[in-house]
Amino acid sequence: MKFEITSSDPNKLNVNLLALFAGTPELTKADLVLGGLIGRILKEEEFDNKIGSDLLIYPDYQITPSKVLISAYGDGKLTIVNWQKICAAIGLRASRVKAGKIAVMIPEKFSRDLGINVLISGLVTGITLGTYTFNKHKSQKSNSPDFRLEKISIIVDQKQAIANETIRVAQAFSDATCFTRDLVNEPSNVTTPTYLADIANSISHDSANITTEILDIKQMHSLGMDAILAVAKGSSEIPKFIRLDYRGGGKKTVCLAGKGITFDSGGISLKTQKGLETMKMDMAGAAAILGIFKALAILKPKINVTGLIAACENMPSGSAIKPGDIVRSLNGKTIEIINTDAEGRIVLADTLAYASSKIKPDVLIDLATLTGACVVALGEEISGLFVNNEKLKSQLIESAKLSGERIWQLPLPEDYLDLMKSKVADIKNVSGTGHGGAITAAIFLQEFVDKNIPWAHLDIAGPAFAEHDTPLTPYGGTGSGVRLLLHLIFLLAKNS
Ligand code: BES
Ligand code: ZN
Ligand code: ZN
Repeated sequence: MKFEITSSDPNKLNVNLLALFAGTPELTKADLVLGGLIGRILKEEEFDNKIGSDLLIYPDYQITPSKVLISAYGDGKLTIVNWQKICAAIGLRASRVKAGKIAVMIPEKFSRDLGINVLISGLVTGITLGTYTFNKHKSQKSNSPDFRLEKISIIVDQKQAIANETIRVAQAFSDATCFTRDLVNEPSNVTTPTYLADIANSISHDSANITTEILDIKQMHSLGMDAILAVAKGSSEIPKFIRLDYRGGGKKTVCLAGKGITFDSGGISLKTQKGLETMKMDMAGAAAILGIFKALAILKPKINVTGLIAACENMPSGSAIKPGDIVRSLNGKTIEIINTDAEGRIVLADTLAYASSKIKPDVLIDLATLTGACVVALGEEISGLFVNNEKLKSQLIESAKLSGERIWQLPLPEDYLDLMKSKVADIKNVSGTGHGGAITAAIFLQEFVDKNIPWAHLDIAGPAFAEHDTPLTPYGGTGSGVRLLLHLIFLLAKNS
């Protein structure tokens, strides 16, 4: 997919589809050549200018584009997310009518609301994410080959100042999101811990600024990462601890830690039939980190980023961990495993302890499909944010605004740690109450983070996987966290 900026006459563009917006002077102007045909059709159809409405017109070769798509944008002030969704719908409609080359007319009044660079970035994001498909495992018989948009011309007024970098950055962010979606959508018999390690190696192979280190069982054991090894014990898949280092210069180091459970059966505390269905997605945090590194390799921001991924499978077997087992984490704390299905926090315990003692970053963020309780609390569209530092909190909220990804802060109440006290070890992996599960999970994680490091935990259990098609996220992996954290990394790079 190629995006380009143009100021040419829309009626003369060599495209298959021209997208215009209802009720804008730009539409009226383009309609002059058609003798007011579009205006008459819109009136006749009683076109409703509600987001989501559109109308496809075949103007009978009076102009070069063979199809004209009229889109609605609503009555209120345009928001970034609504604009992304409108563009996603245009992209989807174009690919359904097999229009390979399209042009989108950007109305001047939209730039007054959002600014031209935000509009262009939102258009690239919306079209790329909205037209994403994952059909590689369908045979040709059951599926007609994917139609891909080839070229998107963005028509702007000549007077608009567009930053050269806008398209490149938006495309790298969106491609990284699609890369993450692919990894999440692949089944667990493809994305094994070894596969994730291979992906990390191939990313560093292609970039001079990225190195990888993959720890095997022996190395993990000698470092004291017995918590990860305990979770991995029940599976015949070999666990991997993956470390990626991006060196972009600058003084700051950001560390991203991802939950990489390539399949979560629950272990001996086995999940229900329904609960098992989508658990290939339990490595979405890890997949987001790999996507982010793909974008870092292309965009090379002036900052250092370390990615840590604890990759293993959580399976029941004769060698699996059992409720009541006690394991020691890298920071010396012992964990009583009450429920083997609360495995994400166990692998993150070692990962966060590794980050605290070996990386000592300026900012530490973990990304995990951690709790069903977070989905109950915030639904499928909003990630839970837990953060121990006000500055990092506002930077994350700003990044959420810029990316359109939604996060909501939940508390880290000190006294809830009492709920995690074990009678026989330093801490247990689930609370006795069964209430506030997203919070008690975060409280558990905090015990493995150095208190002096600004740390945030993002529980992406809801938004990481879409059960239904939505405008920006078709069914499956969503790439949740990728654009949010890339925005944060760029914000931190700018401020350092
Ligand atoms: N991977 C799950 C959390 C999850 C649930 C992610 C639904 C995405 C959708 C996690 O490992 C888990 O099983 N958590 C348990 C914790 C409980 C045993 C305290 C849960 O949420 O039920
Ligand atoms: Zn689990
Ligand atoms: Zn899990």
